[in-house]
Amino acid sequence: MNPYWIIDPAGFIAAVLFIYGLKRMSSPVTARSGIVVAGVGMLVAVLASFLYVLALDPAAEAQRAVNVTLAVVALGMGLGWAWWRGRSVAITAMPQMVALYNGMGGGAAAAIAAVELFGGRRHDLTLLIITVIGALIGSISLSGSVIAWGKLDGRINKPWRFGGQQALNVFVFLVAIAVGLYVAIAAPGPYTAVLTAAFFVVALLFGVLMTMPIGGADMPVVISLYNAFTGLAVGLEGLVLQNPALMIAGMVVGSAGTLLTLLMAKAMNRSISNVLFSNFGDVSLEQQGEIKGRLKPVEASDAAIAMRYASKVIIVPGYGLAAAQAQQRLYEFVKLLQAAGVEVKFAVHPVAGRMPGHMDVLLAEAGVPYDLIHEMDEINEEFSTTDVALVIGANDVVNPAARTNKTSPIYGMPILNVDQAHQIYVIKRGQGKGYAGVENELFYADNCNMVYGDAQAVLGKMVLAVKDLVASGAPAQAAA
Ligand code: TAP
Repeated sequence: MNPYWIIDPAGFIAAVLFIYGLKRMSSPVTARSGIVVAGVGMLVAVLASFLYVLALDPAAEAQRAVNVTLAVVALGMGLGWAWWRGRSVAITAMPQMVALYNGMGGGAAAAIAAVELFGGRRHDLTLLIITVIGALIGSISLSGSVIAWGKLDGRINKPWRFGGQQALNVFVFLVAIAVGLYVAIAAPGPYTAVLTAAFFVVALLFGVLMTMPIGGADMPVVISLYNAFTGLAVGLEGLVLQNPALMIAGMVVGSAGTLLTLLMAKAMNRSISNVLFSNFGDVSLEQQGEIKGRLKPVEASDAAIAMRYASKVIIVPGYGLAAAQAQQRLYEFVKLLQAAGVEVKFAVHPVAGRMPGHMDVLLAEAGVPYDLIHEMDEINEEFSTTDVALVIGANDVVNPAARTNKTSPIYGMPILNVDQAHQIYVIKRGQGKGYAGVENELFYADNCNMVYGDAQAVLGKMVLAVKDLVASGAPAQAAA
């Protein structure tokens, strides 16, 4: 039987499963099953790939057993490692893991290209140029993602910046393109192998140079961008191999990565070039202007009791909640408020925390029901009719300067309307700034009180305060 009768429909089925899986990942309620569906799609694509060996040229028959054995060993190693890491990785180390896996995808695309370029130039010029472009993008994604991993994992702590850096980067990029095109266009000669190797080295070097100056906190956007690169590289190499499953999977990953990158940049009101080329967070004091008012600290127990007697509380989680890993404690506090008849909702800003969906994952991990969690656009109108807004480790996403201060680096970023709540409590450790490095005038507002301390410790005290109140026999709601 012609193996393509199975390979072609299998590629189509895999593509449909990828797209359907992705669709289901758009809601936290269906996301888990979406991952399983896309995983089944990947399994179909991988199994179908084994049938290619049946369609091999009879001359390559002798290689069949060796190739299949190598593929099975590689699959076994990959599956074993991914299974172990997937189960053991801490939720906080997830972005690093995504960066690494993403880099491997880019590396795999570059490896396919390397086989094509080193192994006999079986294609016409157009396909050779496509191979080189895929190799360039895949190599950049591989080395760039490894640097992103190093930064997120705290192994590379300082951005590496020097005068003339952008010019050097442009030069290295142009060299990579020139050498790559020469390799594709020139007839095979004595130096082709050396030049091909040089092309890969320069492409990998460019990925490193491009990523090194970018600040660690911008890495989630960069990873998403490299994700798009990886998809594009895989799609291009799929075209070279005439493999529809690779082409479609590559295009899906490429477009999903591009959309995610654009959405993240838009939600931060920044351009991609600003992420890649600006030193975000290095804000001079002059830019910030003077803030009127004063910071008004209160005890955790006072804030807790005020919330226990409120009718409605909206909680705004931010990066500090994740840093403190206080999500379980928070949900314990929320359940105590609910038991006292308080209506509690969560308001999640699209870029709260440091990765897409960071707060949703955190709250889901603590068991917070999805119907309590609201996106910014859904809930922003409600702050003005809310008794208490409780901000936990969030800063930039509630900074009114984004609306009013044209010189602020976050000007134009949509924010949660926390300032419109009747009373605001903010839990943070001290006077640390947010990711953008700017002061927050919200904290100085008349209706705002600061509850200083690590979110874990403060929420622990709040839980105790409400429990003590219940134990003392206080009524659920204050008398009207
Ligand atoms: P941030 O603006 O980063 O502020 C976090 C605040 O948490 C800090 O002011 C810090 O103040 C406090 N904090 C830190 N550790 C804490 C702890 N253990 N306990 C209590 N508080 C703690 O956070 P945000 O409001 O979530 O904003 C996110 C920022 O990251 C935005 O600017 C966004 O553009 C950017 N960003 C987001 C993403 C994605 S996709 N989510 C990607 C890249 C960048 P103290 O030091 O005083 O405690």
